[in-house]
Amino acid sequence: VRAVRSYVRREGRITPAQVRALRELSGAYCLPPGPVSLGEAFGRHAPKIAEVGCGRGEVLLHLARCNPGNDYLGIEVYRPAIGHMLNQIAARRLSNVRILCADAVEVFERWGARERLDAVLIFFPDPWPKKRHHKRRLIKAEFLQSLAGVVHRHARIFVATDWADYAEQIAAIVAQSSALRSLGPAPRPRWRPVTSFESRALREGRAIAEFCLARAARPSGPSFADLAEL
Ligand SMILES: C[S@@+](CC[C@H](N)C(=O)[O-])C[C@H]1O[C@@H](n2cnc3c(N)ncnc32)[C@H](O)[C@@H]1O
Repeated sequence: VRAVRSYVRREGRITPAQVRALRELSGAYCLPPGPVSLGEAFGRHAPKIAEVGCGRGEVLLHLARCNPGNDYLGIEVYRPAIGHMLNQIAARRLSNVRILCADAVEVFERWGARERLDAVLIFFPDPWPKKRHHKRRLIKAEFLQSLAGVVHRHARIFVATDWADYAEQIAAIVAQSSALRSLGPAPRPRWRPVTSFESRALREGRAIAEFCLARAARPSGPSFADLAEL
């Protein structure tokens, strides 16, 4: 059992509409827990993009609407936000979005061996600013290791944070990682809408650090899947 999580389970304020959405729409749009089967989930071959901690879906749902040829998987633990997304998905009739109500760390550890993502988005992960809480930060060496195992060889992983010391920590972890590498200074992705977290950071004068990562040329020991791709 993992002792330190990157979130605290809290229900917060959940509206009756969100409760109803969770009850009535989960069956259509939420994936069951356990190993993920993307083919079954979306029922087609299309590029698959996952967003970790997608919150209320500001980025996920925007991208899904703009790119009907891609499939989008949102991974989030906060139920009110999931209820909100479910209502939006149904209202906009988006057929290319699925939600996993689960801890992304565990999801990637248990990922099905034949499932691979084309991109992973991690925007404004909880900064846990107090020093004694840094251990809760999502981006750690082990998390990057499991991320490398769930993406294609040519996949991109986009990360943004508005917390300077988290950005430094991410840069240091990536520099030491044998699983993922940085593709150099990354511009702000033009396709990312400005979320409430981003606009608050800008209002409060915090700079936003962007990362674009890829699988390291030589992941730690070739797996059978890597050999098959050569
Ligand atoms: C600061 S919010 C950012 C939300 C969104 N990415 C945005 O930019 O608007 C971070 C989100 O990550 C979620 N989260 C934290 N740890 C997670 C985990 N291990 N798995 C899935 N979601 C997680 C939180 O519930 C929260 O909604």
